[in-house]
Formats: sequence, C-alpha cells, structure tokens
Amino acid sequence: MNAASEIPPVAIDSSVVAGLRSIVGWAHLLEDPDVTSSYATDWTGRFKGAASVVVRPANTGEVAQVIALCGEAGIAVVPQGGNTGLVGGGVPLAGEAVLSVRRLSGITDIDERSGQLTAGAGATIAEVQAAALAAGWAYGVDLGSRDSATVGGTIATNAGGLEVLRHGATRAQLLGVEAVLGSGAVVAHMGGLMKDNTGYDLAGLLCGSEGTLGVLTAARLRLVPPSPERAVALIGFASTESAVASAFILRRALPDLQSLELFQHDGLDLVCRTTGTAHPFATPYPVYLLAEVAAQRDPLPALAEALDSVTAIGDVAVAIDSVRRSQLWRYREGHTEAINTLGAPHKLDVTLPAPVLAQFIDRVPGVVRRVAPRAQVWLFGHVGDGNVHVNVTGVPPDDALVDQQVLVYAASLGGSISAEHGIGTAKRPWLHLNRSEAEVAAFRCIKAALDPMGVLNPNVLLPPG
Ligand code: FAD
Ligand code: MLT
Ligand code: ZN
Repeated sequence: MNAASEIPPVAIDSSVVAGLRSIVGWAHLLEDPDVTSSYATDWTGRFKGAASVVVRPANTGEVAQVIALCGEAGIAVVPQGGNTGLVGGGVPLAGEAVLSVRRLSGITDIDERSGQLTAGAGATIAEVQAAALAAGWAYGVDLGSRDSATVGGTIATNAGGLEVLRHGATRAQLLGVEAVLGSGAVVAHMGGLMKDNTGYDLAGLLCGSEGTLGVLTAARLRLVPPSPERAVALIGFASTESAVASAFILRRALPDLQSLELFQHDGLDLVCRTTGTAHPFATPYPVYLLAEVAAQRDPLPALAEALDSVTAIGDVAVAIDSVRRSQLWRYREGHTEAINTLGAPHKLDVTLPAPVLAQFIDRVPGVVRRVAPRAQVWLFGHVGDGNVHVNVTGVPPDDALVDQQVLVYAASLGGSISAEHGIGTAKRPWLHLNRSEAEVAAFRCIKAALDPMGVLNPNVLLPPG
C-alpha cells in the first residue's frame, strides 16, 4: 500500500513519448532512470517509485498539451513541484508520468499599492518572499522547506507552516489561480479583486486538492504588511500541561504573535547532537515553547509583559538580533532533518481540539508503543494551531500499524488526521476517520467532473474504489 520498495516503470508507447517530446523539447523529456530517480523518491525516502517519464513543460500551453496527450493515451500523471511533500502524493508510486512544473517560475505583475503579485507554480516560497520584500510587503506563508517548496505544491497541499496563526494557511493567501484541469481545460481567474462573489471558488477548491483535479500553473497571491521588528522567546516547561496552558495565554496576550511552536527534550537533544549545537539552557526541560512576535515597532515590551503573566516558566531565552533569533529557531526547524538521519520516518501530522491537546501529546507515545515497542516517537509542531507532528522512527516504511494507531487515536479525540501535509498516498486508507461517506461521494463527483479521464494523481487522496 505505502510503496517503499522498487517499482518498475510502466512502459509508455514510443509514439506517446515522441508526442511529449515534440511538446516540451528534447531536453525536457527525461527517461534515463538515473535522472528520473530523484523525481520518484520523496523527501523522507519512505516513498519510492519509478517514473515512466518526467515531462518538464515551460508554460501553461505546454502543460495543457501534455495533459491532453496523456489523457488520450490513458497515462496517469503526477504533478510535482519541489518534491518536499511528506505524504507520498508527489511521487509516481505506480509508474505514472511525472509532470514537473518547476520551469514555470516567473514572478510578475507585482502591485506595490494593493500588495499582490502573480507567481508561476514553479516559483519557490523563498523567491515569493524575496519578491514581496523587495516590493515593501511580505508573503504570509513560511515553512522550513521554503527554498524548494513551490507555489503550486503549497497550493495543492494548502500548506500551513510557521505563520498560520497570524495569516492563515495557503488558501487564505489566494486571490486567484490559473490551472489546467484534468479535462484539459485551462481556467484562470487572476483579476486579484478582494471581493468577488461570482460563483464557485475554484481557487479554494483546487487548493488542497493534491494534484487530483488540475495542474496549477500560476497564482495571484495577496501579500501582508511587513513586520520587521522581531523578538523570539524560547521557554522551558516542566510539563506538557503547563506548556500548552501557557501557549493559550501567550496567544491571547500577544496580538503580534507570528509563530508559536512546541518541541520536547528528546527532539531538542537529537537536533543538538546532529548539528553539534549546545543545549539552550543548563537545565533540560521536558517541553519547550518557541514564540516569535513580529511588529512594526519594538515588540519586546509586549513580549516581556506577556511572559511575566505566565507563571509556569522554568527558564527563558529571548533574542532580538537576527543571528541569535536564527539560533533559537534552529532548535525547532532542525527537527525534520535530524529525524531523517535515523531512517525514513512515519510522519503523522494531526490537529487536536484545544482541551485534549496536552493529553494527546502525553499519551500518544504509549499508543504507538502498544504496537511497536521499540519505536521512537518524536513530537513537535505548531502548538498555536493545535497541530502536532508525530514522527515515528524504527518502524519499517511499509508497516502501517503505527500510522493506524496514531490516526485513530487523534480522530477519537475529535482531531484531524491531516493538519497541513495532506492525505497523499500515506493516509488514503484513513480518510473515513474524518470524512463521511456522503462527503467522499461528493469528492468523487467533483473529481469525475474536473478530471473525467482520471488522468491526474489517481492514487492520491481518494480511497481506492
Ligand atoms: P510537491 O512535494 O512537489 O507536491 C506535493 C503535492 O502537491 C503532490 O500531491 C503533488 O502532486 C501536488 N502538486 C505539486 N505541484 C502541483 C501543481 N503545480 N499543480 C497541482 N498539484 C501539484 N508543510 C507544511 O504544511 N508546513 C510546514 O511547516 C512544512 N515544513 C516542511 C519542512 C521541511 C524541511 C520539509 C521537507 C517539508 C515541509 N513541509 C511543510 C511539507 C512540504 O514542504 C509542503 O507540503 C509543500 O507544500 C510541498 O510543496 P512542493 O512544491 O514541494 O510540492
Ligand atoms: C514542520 O513543521 O517542521 C514541518 O511540517 C515538517 C515536518 O513535519 O517534519
Ligand atoms: Zn509543520
């Protein structure tokens, strides 16, 4: 089910390969397995397949031609951006063709007055952030994969990240999108009007559709006013309960709170060992919060006042200069890479209702060890959004029992089995934990309408059948 072993590519008729080559040119139709393998393995190494071909179109017209040709030939297509997805949704696990949008990377039509820009689906989030900054604005989405994750990929997954509590997830940044639907039709609604109630919200629908309905080719993005003055606090706590309770206090006390993250001692220790960094405090704490406040004027007084109102603090380090702020952030952002050094992790990304958040964090390791006694469980995440990343190492890639345990436990507490990474192939069997039969039936109707030939990512999101 979660393909982790080598899968042979599906042979494509040579006339189809020739047709694709004539659309994108020789240099952008890749067949050599040594070249295509990086498109066929996900970032974690847990999901490995083989692409029949990799096609790299240069513009929307070429994308439309590729989809039309693949549809006629009955060839399934996996759209791919930066290949940083964490649920196996962007790699060809059943020998599909990969359609890489990375060449559609232009950033145009920057409107400095209204704070908007148009980005090609292949532009990276770091490139959008830099363009926004140069125009006197900021982009409201930030995530650790910013240098590789693309506009198209973040829209397709409705990526969350580090600033959701302030600016919302990716869907909240969309003023319009351009996409090639599975039917081959090109839809574009890029006028950038703030208010525009003219029918169905196609941008909102394509956002989070994980490449199953259309290939995103460009987006009109709203920008947010910049908040250049920043302060970061790293706080140690004696218990999860006190950390989570304090997180809620900080959230209410600090209107300029930009990020509110949680991690634990084991994860911090792993990051320190892998990066050769010293621990932040002389005394270790079981749980840590990292809070960043970002404002147009000095945010330190407000942060200090808010920290004074939190009684359970064990230790605190505050940073205002950018070097020290980055050092504190590294303890949190270093988790993903540090955990990957232990072998392909099972990454379970869940949201919990506030009243049971601390209980989930404390009990989920026991829930995992009931079926995998020797597994290691790493917990961190965006606590301000109720989002916990449960990473499990020491379990074979295709053993789904651990995933089942964690997702069933989260859902039993009223949580979501996917906070921000999507369903992909990794969580397909458990969609029913959050979605009713009627909802899944409605999803299938939408899929059939927009992708009648079933060409786009047929093995993702919707359960088989
Ligand atoms: P890909 O991995 O290429 O694809 C992801 C999905 O989108 C696939 O289903 C694919 O088919 C589809 N897709 C890609 N491009 C298109 C397109 N143009 N049209 C239609 N469908 C498309 N995620 C978060 O939400 N929050 C985080 O904080 C976060 N931090 C991360 C940190 C690290 C170090 C890493 C490695 C990953 C992190 N991620 C995070 C996960 C990942 O970066 C996001 O899911 C991101 O949105 C994926 O973008 P991508 O361009 O790499 O997409
Ligand atoms: C994060 O918050 O660091 C990302 O979602 C990546 C991960 O879950 O490892
Ligand atoms: Zn995350």
